[in-house]
Amino acid sequence: MTETRKPAYLEDFAPSSGARAPRARFDGDAPALDLNGTWRFRMLPGAPAGTDGFERPDYDDSGWEGLPVPSHWQLHGHGAPAYTNVVYPFPVDPPHVPDENPTGDHRREFDLPEDWPEGAAALRFDGVDSCFRVWLNGTELGFSTGSRLAAEFDAGHLLRPGRNVLAVRVHQWSAASYLEDQDMWWLSGIFRDVTLTALPERGIGDVAVHASYDHEDGTGTLRVDVAGSAEALVSVPELGLVDAPAGVEHAVGPVEPWTAEEPRLYDAVVAAPGERARLRVGFRTVEVSGGLLRVNGRPLLLRGVNRHEWHPDHGRAVSRETMREDVLLMKRHNVNAVRTSHYPPHPDFLDLCDELGLWVVDECDLETHGFELVGWRGNPSDDPRWREAYLDRIARTVGRDRNHPSVVLWSLGNESGTGRNLEAMAAWVREHDPSRPVHYEGDRDSSYADVYSRMYPPHDEVDAIGRREEEATDDPGADAHRRGLPFVLCEYAHAMGAGPGGLEEYQELFTRHERLQGGFVWEWIDHGIRRREPDGAEWFAYGGDFGETVHDGNFVADGLLLPDRTPGPGLHAYKKTIEPVRVVPDPAAGTVGIANTWDFRDTSGLVLRWRAEEEGVPFAEGVLDMPVLGPGADADVPLPGMPEPPGGGEAWLTVSVHLGADQPWAPAGHELAWGQARLATGRHGAAGTAGAPGPVGTAAPAAGTEGALLRLGPGVLDTGTGALLSVGGLPVGTPAVDLWRAPTDNDQARHGVSVEVPWRAAGLDRITSRRLSAGRDGDAYVVRDRLAPAGADFGMLVAYRWTAEGGRLLLDVDAEAEGEWPCPLPRFGVRMDVPSSLGGVEWFGRGPGEAYRDVDQAARVGRFASSVDGLQTPYLRPQENGNRADVRWAVLRAEDGTGLRIDGDPVFGLSARRWDTAALDAARHPHELVPDGRIHLHLDLEHHGIGSASCGPGVLPAHRLAAGRHRLRLGFSPAAPTP
Ligand code: GAL
Repeated sequence: MTETRKPAYLEDFAPSSGARAPRARFDGDAPALDLNGTWRFRMLPGAPAGTDGFERPDYDDSGWEGLPVPSHWQLHGHGAPAYTNVVYPFPVDPPHVPDENPTGDHRREFDLPEDWPEGAAALRFDGVDSCFRVWLNGTELGFSTGSRLAAEFDAGHLLRPGRNVLAVRVHQWSAASYLEDQDMWWLSGIFRDVTLTALPERGIGDVAVHASYDHEDGTGTLRVDVAGSAEALVSVPELGLVDAPAGVEHAVGPVEPWTAEEPRLYDAVVAAPGERARLRVGFRTVEVSGGLLRVNGRPLLLRGVNRHEWHPDHGRAVSRETMREDVLLMKRHNVNAVRTSHYPPHPDFLDLCDELGLWVVDECDLETHGFELVGWRGNPSDDPRWREAYLDRIARTVGRDRNHPSVVLWSLGNESGTGRNLEAMAAWVREHDPSRPVHYEGDRDSSYADVYSRMYPPHDEVDAIGRREEEATDDPGADAHRRGLPFVLCEYAHAMGAGPGGLEEYQELFTRHERLQGGFVWEWIDHGIRRREPDGAEWFAYGGDFGETVHDGNFVADGLLLPDRTPGPGLHAYKKTIEPVRVVPDPAAGTVGIANTWDFRDTSGLVLRWRAEEEGVPFAEGVLDMPVLGPGADADVPLPGMPEPPGGGEAWLTVSVHLGADQPWAPAGHELAWGQARLATGRHGAAGTAGAPGPVGTAAPAAGTEGALLRLGPGVLDTGTGALLSVGGLPVGTPAVDLWRAPTDNDQARHGVSVEVPWRAAGLDRITSRRLSAGRDGDAYVVRDRLAPAGADFGMLVAYRWTAEGGRLLLDVDAEAEGEWPCPLPRFGVRMDVPSSLGGVEWFGRGPGEAYRDVDQAARVGRFASSVDGLQTPYLRPQENGNRADVRWAVLRAEDGTGLRIDGDPVFGLSARRWDTAALDAARHPHELVPDGRIHLHLDLEHHGIGSASCGPGVLPAHRLAAGRHRLRLGFSPAAPTP
């Protein structure tokens, strides 16, 4: 008979055995040994009940491979990653796990340093996914679960001089997997650090810092509890506190408080007879009072992101450099808060938040979302057998992270339904750390959470919540209680693919209603896994790319950063939306309005600059006096008299706010905020102004026919077919009205109302065209078509009117919908193709980045240069992208300087690609898109907005593009050679 038994601990409700009580990580002087590095490793297909003796020191592991620790074995050639959002990738049959349970055996030899002290020691694992059993020198220490929680074991009694052997067996699946159903890749292994630390006698077993700030008198109090030594002493030299007893509250007099805006930390030392530790203390007081979440007496406005730990090559095994990069990127994009969705991060990340300043919602490692798919039957959250595991998880979260001033809320977990075990966790927090409020979104009544939290509600609902008038339930008591609480959006603005739209409108609500204390965009980074094709092409995999049978596709790619940490257009839009200083230039009034939207700090140390540009070319600039404004204050700053733009063209004033000095998170000069206003009326697209590459010559040949060819200015049309043949001798395709776009993730709307479905049902991706007429009309040539998809009785009548004027070929498109269109239009514009040599792009309009009508905050008016390739945003699933908004003119140029100039009247949206929309629509990954020999231009009047319906509300009414009448005017001319 074959062995079918599994080790009992795998299907045990108990979270661990043999593990030490949770405690804080601190910087003590007790000897420590870093056990990261290359371990010996072998993979087993299932979890055997016993071992073959691999835990024994003399076991011969010479046939095993090497594996880095920390890492996930799936990213090192053993098995494969798998992605699911809600659904468990195994039967919902708790606490049972599949027999097919990839198991990794690890061995690590280490030499104990000669001066290693005798006595107790702790072996710490900062993160092992999902369940592991550990032996030291052949003796079992125990097992533990809780993938993103630290686990320690007593090891001192087993250590021996010289060679020691650590053996760890890790299982992918365990009962605990039911508690770890976060929306992310399933990745296993020892993915965080392993350390051995001596535990000196009369040392610092654990330390808990209580540092509060009294905003009324500006003083701090400090109590440092030390477990393990009654004689411990605390010093904060800067505050004159020297060798003060631990465990006692000390009034430390006036202190500078800690805030995310000014993260003031004091160096402290805790000295026990056997050990000293350095601490960094931040004084601040968090409370919910008067219906608001306050720190140091002031309500917060959270401008946050949800952060999963992610690296495209290393998964959740992120290095300190990567963590630092995340914090720097957040700070540089005006983000002030982070929710550690949905587990406590590597503790180094919290050190960085303390040091550089971010408000943190520290979330426990808990999610049972897959039970929703079975009607929440058997949800562990309300099953007493899981109670110990729930309490263990919150105790380990709080126990490890309580000393971080950046942590202002404890979150019980994510999407785990409701139940007594969650309630018990909240009670545990209140008992053990009453200094921070409790967050849990799943608690709809907020009966055990201290703040009301929701994910993805639409704007009108958030507005009602802001007024404390959200929809009543059938429990008036609960309603009254909840309405008295502050509100946060723990998730909103789903940043999947292009978008998210709607940010500005949420921000406006946050400023309007004090109850709305901001939120956390979902999410920080796309969890794409880097892959390389044989030809070297790099791409990022998502769900299904590893052959998973059950998966959720590209829903894992919904971040503000692309997987390689390139900020996406959504992050730029968010940065502008949440800028801490508002800048509103009003040249007519001769002032610029400046408003400080920080909660704590004033505007001292900032520099205010102005610059005037004509068609994007600067002609005057200077520095203004930055007023010192306290939080919430505003002022009008006088502007100097503006000189006239030298060429009489379109001129804009940009006023921007910069750091005056280096900060730990950005250098001096870093731009925080900006505002623009138009200066002079100017003439749109005035030829040759301000050095603009203008059309060649104004003496265009008069309109005339040459056989079947009609010459209109620089353009040549075929009067037989109505086709545009060339502009200035450059062969170009005929502009044709195009209503289709490759649906974005938000159009597709996996967890919202899809607009792609009605678009495809209506046939907008397969519109046909019927020629109604084509011919001369005076000096013009006019083509009339009727566009409509097969099977539909609605359509669009389009007239293309070609004329010549001022050296340009002009196209007037006039379109009118007929019949009943069942849905909004994806876009209205024309497409045309041009030779592939025209790879350089320059434009005067909004840029530098991609913008759509509801994601256009970061696009400023200016002159920008890029290339066709550079205009693309490589969203993990190809979709509409790269539009440049409000373009006055654009030039596409070949390397030899020749090219095509397009003028808007007044503006158009520009996108240019080396493939057409059908190819973009069909591709699953960007590297599948291959240049087809032409450049495909889209010159758009407008797009339907983007919205956030991939998870949440769709496009707001103001950003819908209805069928109806649309008129677009464009001018074409050969570009002047570059000077
Ligand atoms: C939320 C969930 C997140 C993520 C998001 C969609 O419901 O809390 O973990 O799945 O939806 O991307």
